[in-house]
Amino acid sequence: MDALKQMILKQGKVLDENILKVDSFLTHQIDPKLMDKIGRHVANTYKNKGVTKIVTIESSGIAPAAFIGLHMDLPVVFARKQKSLTMNSELLMSEVYSFTKQVTNTIAISNKYLQEGDNVLVVDDFLANGQAALGLIELCKQAGASIEAISIVIEKSFQEGRKLLEDKGYKVDSLARVGSLKNNQIQFID
Ligand code: G4P
Ligand code: NA
Ligand code: NA
Repeated sequence: MDALKQMILKQGKVLDENILKVDSFLTHQIDPKLMDKIGRHVANTYKNKGVTKIVTIESSGIAPAAFIGLHMDLPVVFARKQKSLTMNSELLMSEVYSFTKQVTNTIAISNKYLQEGDNVLVVDDFLANGQAALGLIELCKQAGASIEAISIVIEKSFQEGRKLLEDKGYKVDSLARVGSLKNNQIQFID
């Protein structure tokens, strides 16, 4: 997606060869016009596919997911991260380990908002090692919901996430694929 790639080149900062900082438009400050374009683009890709719900994870997945939901006229649910969830029969829960942050989060969605018969478009801001997406997939499985695809704003293609998800049979669809951050340079693939 061209507008996104241009924004990444203009405002993205390479922190080291593994981390791309995009906090001026995606992960801290949000550019609503860009999010709107993202929403329109993804909605166009998935119209007529029978998607019933957009599912993401707090916090930085929420902005793109909300605009995708707006343009698809679908509800958006975000998994919450909680350090110590008490047992609650209404919650679907999963553990997500972050290699980047080296913490494990329990993530949860109420069974009111994700149900059997739902066909889900999973959305996230970044795809790195795929653990957040796997956690969301696990919540969908627990609910008995199916998954249409995993829609990612920025994929770091030099990390394992895409392969992990594709090997499990899921369709991964990324709006920008970063092939390398070496030498302080952002290189896209495709
Ligand atoms: P994974 O889910 O694909 O395995 O990724 P990983 O655990 O490595 O990522 C953990 C967190 O770091 C995620 O945010 C993810 O969005 C973010 N992240 C990963 N790589 C990058 C990067 O290159 N740049 C930026 N800006 N963020 C990155 P989170 O901690 O789950 O949540 P939140 O920050 O959205 O609240
Ligand atoms: Na993030
Ligand atoms: Na995220």
